[in-house]
Order: sequence, then C-alpha cells, then structure tokens
Amino acid sequence: MAHLLSAFIFLIFQTLALSKSAHSYGHGAHTCRSYCGNLTVDYPFAIQSGCGHSGYRDLLFCINDVLMLHISSGSYRVLDIDYAYESLTLDDPHMSTCSSIVFGNRGNGFVVERWREPYLNPTADNVFMLLGCTAESPLFQGFPGKHLPCRNVSGMGCEEYYGCPAWNIIGPRKVGSSVYGSGPPECCSVSFEAIKAINLTKLGCQGYSSAYSLAPLRVDGPHGWSYGIRVKYSVDEGDSFCKACEATGGSCGHNVNDFSSLCMCGTWNSSSNCDSVHSASHRRTWSLMDVLTGFLGCIAVWKLSTKLGL
Ligand SMILES: *[C@@H]1O[C@H](CO)[C@@H](O)[C@H](O)[C@H]1NC(C)=O
Ligand SMILES: *[C@@H]1O[C@H](CO)[C@@H](O)[C@H](O)[C@H]1NC(C)=O
Ligand SMILES: *[C@@H]1O[C@H](CO)[C@@H](O)[C@H](O)[C@H]1NC(C)=O
Ligand SMILES: *[C@@H]1O[C@H](CO)[C@@H](O)[C@H](O)[C@H]1NC(C)=O
Repeated sequence: MAHLLSAFIFLIFQTLALSKSAHSYGHGAHTCRSYCGNLTVDYPFAIQSGCGHSGYRDLLFCINDVLMLHISSGSYRVLDIDYAYESLTLDDPHMSTCSSIVFGNRGNGFVVERWREPYLNPTADNVFMLLGCTAESPLFQGFPGKHLPCRNVSGMGCEEYYGCPAWNIIGPRKVGSSVYGSGPPECCSVSFEAIKAINLTKLGCQGYSSAYSLAPLRVDGPHGWSYGIRVKYSVDEGDSFCKACEATGGSCGHNVNDFSSLCMCGTWNSSSNCDSVHSASHRRTWSLMDVLTGFLGCIAVWKLSTKLGL
C-alpha cells in the first residue's frame, strides 16, 4: 500500500511540475505563428494585429487561403516567404512577362510607404523593366545628353527581354540600343535602387515587368528568368529582442498604439522577455494558482489514502 501511495504522490508531483512549466513557457509560444494556404506566416510577419514586428504591420492579409501583401502601390500575391534568405516573392497579375505584355498602366509597379522603406525593398538583383514610357518621363530627363538610368541588372535587361514571344504580338521593335536617335527606348530596365520607387504614373510608363534569377550563374535568356518581384526584408534592431523573447517561450509582437516591441507571454506582455522580473503581479497570480493546485493535489492524495484505508 505504501508503494502505491508514494507512486500516486509521485504522479501528482509530476503533473504539477508539468502544468507549472506549461504555465510559464507553453502559452506564449507560437501564438502569433499562422498559416495561409501552404505558407507559414511567422515573425517578423503576422496576420493578426499586435503580432510580428511593427515594420510589417497592416501588410499581409490572408484572403481565401491566398496571402496578399498590401502597400501604397497596390496589392500583390505572396508566392513565397524565404525566412532563411529574408526575402519575399510577389506576383502582380498585371505585370508583363515573357508571354504577355500588359499595357494601359494597369500594373502596380512598386512603391512602399515612407515609414516602411527601411523594412522592405526589392532585392539588388531584381530587374524592373519599364515599358512604353513617354519621352517626357523623368527617366529620360536630360535625354539624350545625360546618362540614362537604364541598364542591365544581374545580366537581365531589355535587350534580352525583346527576345520574348510577347514582343512578336505587339510588333517587331528594333529599338535604338546605345544611340537613342529615334526617341526613347520602348523598354528601360532599372534596379529598384536606381529610382527608389516604381510609380508607373509618375514615370509615365504604360506597363512594366519584373524578373529575378535565383540561379547563381546567368540563366539562358528571358525564358529562364522568374517573373515576379523579389523583396528583401530586414529587421535591424528588433531581432535580438525577438530571439530573447522566443528563447523564454514568448511570441514577438508590438504595441498597437506606440509600435514598441513587446513579448507576449501568454497571460501577460513584457517589454523584454518572459523571464523578466517586471511582472511581479503576474508572478504572484501564478504562485497563487500553484498553491491552489497543490492544495487540490493534497486533497486528492488524502481522499485516496482514506479510500485505501491508510
Ligand atoms: C503552395 O501552393 C501553390 C499552389 O496553391 C503551389 O504552386 C506551390 O508550389 C506550393 N508551395 C509549396 C511550398 O508547397
Ligand atoms: C498583449 O499585447 C497584444 C498585442 O498588442 C494584445 O493584443 C494583448 O491583448 C496584450 N495582452 C495583454 C494581457 O495585455
Ligand atoms: C504615383 O505618382 C502619382 C503622380 O505623381 C501620385 O499621384 C501617386 O500618389 C503616386 N503613387 C504612389 C503609390 O505613391
Ligand atoms: C545588356 O545585356 C545584353 C545581353 O547580354 C547586351 O547585349 C547589352 O549590351 C547589355 N546592355 C548593357 C547596357 O550593358
């Protein structure tokens, strides 16, 4: 009988220990991680308000299992989030590709809000090809004397893009390559860095295409390029905060009013991490809970022992 009793006491202690660790560590973890279709949405991104880094607030929306990114130039479908390389791959259905050219200024281009600029930028090896821009476009200011911003990006550029079947439909165009004798080029390729905002209206362009190449070596022509927008994201200061928060079982978020970082620890929020002493009041609540659980455990043991006639 004594053996049985000690076994039961051991079991109860075990349960207590387990529930205690669950209280302090289990609750906060991963409360912010979510899924949209087959994409994982995790720090610094979030779908729920208050989760993730404040630089990415009001950015992603899950609509019918499709993850959408919304910035000032419009909405894009998120095709992939690469957490290891800190990049996003976006698609704009009104973007020209190798098989179709979309004119009529229907494409989004790419413009992010001023405050969000430090957090989100197309990668340096992503090429934007601006199509059908007017001679009055800021792109060609100073034309033909001054340097045009148009140039190849990571081996991708208009010269090669003209080889796409889409151009056959529009009509053959032998555009002046180096000497712009007969008006502005039909296509001008730039990196995002060169002009900082792909605003088709402002640039006076009819359309655009965007491509990136994941291959380390130059891929064979415009058929091999991936069409879409590769965007780099980076959280400069916030990462150590989040690592510390997650290490203590918290979920990284931010204050929705002042946008300061906070660590969500289940039942309380910390401005540092879930092990911080900040939370004296909460700690007390938990100890009270522990006492209560312990008390109930004792009753259970006592009842058991009377039942067993000890
Ligand atoms: C996610 O689903 C889309 C189609 O909805 C598919 O094209 C893509 O390859 C899938 N990605 C992964 C990583 O499974
Ligand atoms: C913690 O912060 C999040 C995000 O701001 C908020 O939604 C939540 O209500 C807060 N929880 C507590 C207990 O204050
Ligand atoms: C693009 O430029 C136009 C004209 O300058 C401006 O009205 C519009 O707000 C800009 N769009 C974005 C998204 O910044
Ligand atoms: C861009 O690349 C194409 C093909 O490699 C080449 O013909 C063209 O001269 C290059 N243009 C510039 C501006 O370097």
